[in-house]
Amino acid sequence: MEKLVIEGGVPLYGEIGISGAKNAALPLIAATLLSGGVHTLRNVPDLRDTRTILKLISELGATWQREGTVLQIDTTSVEYGEVSYDLVKTMRASVLVLGPMLARFGKARVSLPGGCAIGERPINFHITGFERFGVQCKLEEGYVEAIAEQRLRGNSVYFDIPSVTGTENILMAAVLAKGKTTIKNAAREPEIGNLIEMLVKMGAKISGGGSDQITVEGVDSLVAADVEIIPDRIETGTYLIAAGATGGEVTVTHCNPDHLPALLEKLKTAGLQIGIESDSITIISPTKNRKKLQSVDIKTMPYPGYPTDLQAQFMALMALSNSICVVNETIFENRFMHVAELRRMGAEIKTGGKSAVVTGRGEKGLSGARVMATDLRASSSLVVAGLAASGRTEISRIYHLERGYENLVGKLTGVGARVWKEQE
Ligand code: EPU
Repeated sequence: MEKLVIEGGVPLYGEIGISGAKNAALPLIAATLLSGGVHTLRNVPDLRDTRTILKLISELGATWQREGTVLQIDTTSVEYGEVSYDLVKTMRASVLVLGPMLARFGKARVSLPGGCAIGERPINFHITGFERFGVQCKLEEGYVEAIAEQRLRGNSVYFDIPSVTGTENILMAAVLAKGKTTIKNAAREPEIGNLIEMLVKMGAKISGGGSDQITVEGVDSLVAADVEIIPDRIETGTYLIAAGATGGEVTVTHCNPDHLPALLEKLKTAGLQIGIESDSITIISPTKNRKKLQSVDIKTMPYPGYPTDLQAQFMALMALSNSICVVNETIFENRFMHVAELRRMGAEIKTGGKSAVVTGRGEKGLSGARVMATDLRASSSLVVAGLAASGRTEISRIYHLERGYENLVGKLTGVGARVWKEQE
């Protein structure tokens, strides 16, 4: 197993190019199952998770080839098949094939994901939604077995909480259903807009994308599409926060500043200088201004609120601020696993329920330590902390990072960070 070694305390200077979004690539790859043909996806990141979903669709009969960031997926020979626990346990987003399989074959059998490092994460909203389409779902031997006796029938689906993959799954089932579907309290994340863009190119009739009510008029068939994956807003945010934590000046390119409304406001409030162009963001944070890093409260919310996937990284930044702030996690019940690891680096953080109180270390800063990655975003907060800390940080279990950050070491060394991988 590999670990990540960081010699911290080096201000970052330069440019970082952002890759395509993991959480858009996954549903878009799943959506290729909806119709036979050769689909072209552009700006596809090469990540552990994208490789996992490609393995999954290959097991169902799809073939694919990648040239650089362009992926061609041929789904002509896809057949009904089950999605095993081995795949779902490595990546929960495997459940995203439920909707397309039901739409195309009228049945699906996918292993039920268990809990994970950030919370219970049930898929009851997905199941209830499918049932509204006339699908019978039962749980057998750890698998969700979903069967529709006849073509899915559109209906209204309401989410108690806006669910990202829930909205995506229901959308993918609805596009080939008979009649009209209305998704109420739908998630509004930009990745859903990207999926809708693809589905519309395939011939689907969808309106209301980007709002909390999406309407779908089912169609009889779809065709293959050519679509570009949006830039990864979480990767963008992670590098901005890392630059803010280390000092220096970094321009993050090939990104979409419109997708980070909450983070950009919080970074400005923290006293960091932000310059925004159409597809790049520059963050300026002179090292000597570290003492001016203000403490800022955050509360994670569905989009366009502050993203839970950038909570851990912001907490690492706040551990370096000049006062006290509160981090409120409202999306997942167990998303403070990074706190104990950040404490090993000197961070002063107390947690209670959904809140964490961070007392910034200001000029005292953080110090390098051996720490352990527990999930993807927790790991990236340790990278942020390690880059800013004095001395050496070693992060073990970096396979978590490889799920969601393409070429992390290359991108960080490109802006002057001293970071490399070593065998454990
Ligand atoms: N929820 C339910 N029942 C459901 C579905 C969701 O109770 O059937 C709850 C969840 O437990 C959670 C809330 O609803 O409390 C929202 O969860 P959501 O369904 O939106 O999460 P998700 O779709 O499983 C996606 C991202 C996550 C990201 C969340 C929230 C993908 C593949 N995953 O997960 O990304 O944290 O939305 O924005 O899109 C990551 O990239 O590191 C990651 C975890």
